Amino acid sequence: MEQIVELKNVTKVIKGRTIIDDISFQVNKGEVFGFLGPNGAGKTTTIRMIVGLMDMTKGDILIGGASIKTDFEEAVRHIGAIVENPEMYKFLTGYQNLIHYARMTTGITKEKIAEIIELVGLTDRINDKVKTYSLGMRQRLGLAQCLLHDPQVLILDEPTNGLDPAGIREIRDYVRRLAREKNMAVIVSSHLLSEMEMMCDRIGIIQDGRLVDVQQIKEFIQGSGTAFELEVIPSKQALAVLQNHYPEARITSYRDGVTIELRKLEIPGLVKILVEEGFQIFGIKESGKTLEDRFLEVTGEKEGAIRG
Ligand SMILES: Nc1ncnc2c1ncn2[C@@H]1O[C@H](COP(=O)(O)OP(=O)(O)OP(=O)(O)O)[C@@H](O)[C@H]1O
Ligand SMILES: [Mg+2]
Repeated sequence: MEQIVELKNVTKVIKGRTIIDDISFQVNKGEVFGFLGPNGAGKTTTIRMIVGLMDMTKGDILIGGASIKTDFEEAVRHIGAIVENPEMYKFLTGYQNLIHYARMTTGITKEKIAEIIELVGLTDRINDKVKTYSLGMRQRLGLAQCLLHDPQVLILDEPTNGLDPAGIREIRDYVRRLAREKNMAVIVSSHLLSEMEMMCDRIGIIQDGRLVDVQQIKEFIQGSGTAFELEVIPSKQALAVLQNHYPEARITSYRDGVTIELRKLEIPGLVKILVEEGFQIFGIKESGKTLEDRFLEVTGEKEGAIRG
């Protein structure tokens, strides 16, 4: 995998306050990287630094090997981005907006514009005025605009904000498609866990300006191991037998069974042990942790979570 974006010890101090604290991560071509964190965590600030809208206090950011600090033009050439609301002229049509934008950039052909309009699904409405567009359509026009110059890196700050479930799904599909078909690196920020789970290959969790964790989304969800629920009787005795065989595993019993954290490939062995010991097994269910559970584990906010 080829790396295209690299943040190296990026720090931002504003008026003596450290807003971004020594953040480092890399993003590869063809990968969707989710930047996940609660309100005020520092997502937008980091993105503003990546696209060169804000200076950093310390560290460096390389895009395609070019430093945003010392080689700005070469670095931003690779980037397409929507940070906050995309700038659009409401009294012009979608098409006129794209043409206007294309004139400011060299080498964008009419064919390219048509291809992008098709890609974001605006063909039917592209000649209508932007003021008649829904929020979702404006998002898609913004996406079209930042794709015109064929960027290798696409950066979207909270792209699904304010969209309904259908709009969210659309954005998700485009993002996945751009990564897959155009081998683009995509960085999306969000405070919604469920959304990141479906859109991203990897996520970085930011909290109070610090990157607390970067993981493959699958590993992140599974975390310390997968929990399995065994419906087995008698459950108290089953618990004792399993504790004996798996002294390292986390095991608890409930009324009609036990819960055990193991790797999946250990399950057949476990079933064999219980059957040979004469237990009756009525069912085995994988109770994978939700992304939310893991998020609270990682950010240590479990204590603060609302509980009964
Ligand atoms: N120009 C600025 N001057 C002072 N403080 C700032 C400035 N820009 C951002 N901050 C502070 O930096 C912190 C991070 O803000 P940022 O907008 O990056 O968070 P965010 O993760 O994008 O949040 P949200 O989910 O609400 O968009 C906040 O505490 C914010 O008040
Ligand atoms: Mg923000």
